[in-house]
Amino acid sequence: MRKTILDLQEMAAQGEKIAMLTCYDSSFARVLEAQGIDAILIGDSLGMVVQGHDSPLPVTLDEIIYHTQCVCRGSKRAFILADMPFGTSQVSPQETFKNAARLIQAGAQMVKIEGGAAMCETVKFLVQGGIPVCAHIGLTPQSVNQLGGFKVQGRAADQAQSLIDSARLLEQSGASLLLIEAVPQPLADQLCEVVSIPTIGIGASPNCSGQVLVIYDMLGLGAYIPPRFVKAFIKETGSIEEAVKLYVDEVKASLFPAPEHCYK
Ligand code: KIV
Repeated sequence: MRKTILDLQEMAAQGEKIAMLTCYDSSFARVLEAQGIDAILIGDSLGMVVQGHDSPLPVTLDEIIYHTQCVCRGSKRAFILADMPFGTSQVSPQETFKNAARLIQAGAQMVKIEGGAAMCETVKFLVQGGIPVCAHIGLTPQSVNQLGGFKVQGRAADQAQSLIDSARLLEQSGASLLLIEAVPQPLADQLCEVVSIPTIGIGASPNCSGQVLVIYDMLGLGAYIPPRFVKAFIKETGSIEEAVKLYVDEVKASLFPAPEHCYK
C-alpha cells in the first residue's frame, strides 16, 4: 500500500525520521523503494541534473508530469510529491489549481510550491480543493535570479523573522509539509518549533522530521560543486543500492545531516 500524508504525519509524531529523495524515472524509483525510502520528490532539480541546465527555471509542467508518470510506474509504496515548476504557481490560485491538478492526475499525492507568505492564498485555494501542499521556504531555487545565486538564506535578522512568519502562515493556510532549504541550523530549529506539520530539511537541521537530497548529488554525479549539505553516500558504499540504504539508515538514525552538512 502506498504511504499517505497521514503516514508521514504519524511517523513525525512518533519521532521516526522521514527519508525522502528526488527521483525522475521508474528504474531509480524501484531501487529507492527496495531500500526503504519513505517519500519520492519529482523535483524541478531535474532541469539541472537530467537536462543539463544551470537552473531549474526552464523545466515545464509537461516535463514534471512525464517524470511523475515514470516514477509512479516504478513505485508502489513511497509517498509521491511533485514540484510545481517555475511559472505554474506564480499565477492566480485558480490557474495554479489547474496546473496542480494535472500533477495529481499524473500520480502525485501532493504538490510542492516554492515561496513564503505570498503563496498563502494559493495554498489555501489548493487545499480547499483537495490538493495537499508542501510549502518550500529558505533557498527557493526558482528565485535564483532574485537571490543572486544558490545561497544560504535567513542570515539577517529580518530575513529570519520573515521565514518564521511565513512558516506559521503557510501552516495556517493548510500546508501539510514544510520543506526548509539552506538556512542556518539555529533558524531551521526555530522553524521546526513554530510549526506542528512535519518538516523536511535540506541544508537545514537534523532536528527536522525528515531529510531530502537530490539523488544524483548523493550518488556523486552532480556536474556542479556540491553544496555543503550534500553527502556523496556512494563514496562510502560503491553501489547505488547500498548508497541509498546508507542514506535511509543515516536519516533514520539522525546521523545525517552531520554538523559539517549544516550551516552555522
Ligand atoms: O527540485 C528539487 O529537487 C528540490 C529539492 C532540492 C528539495 O526542490
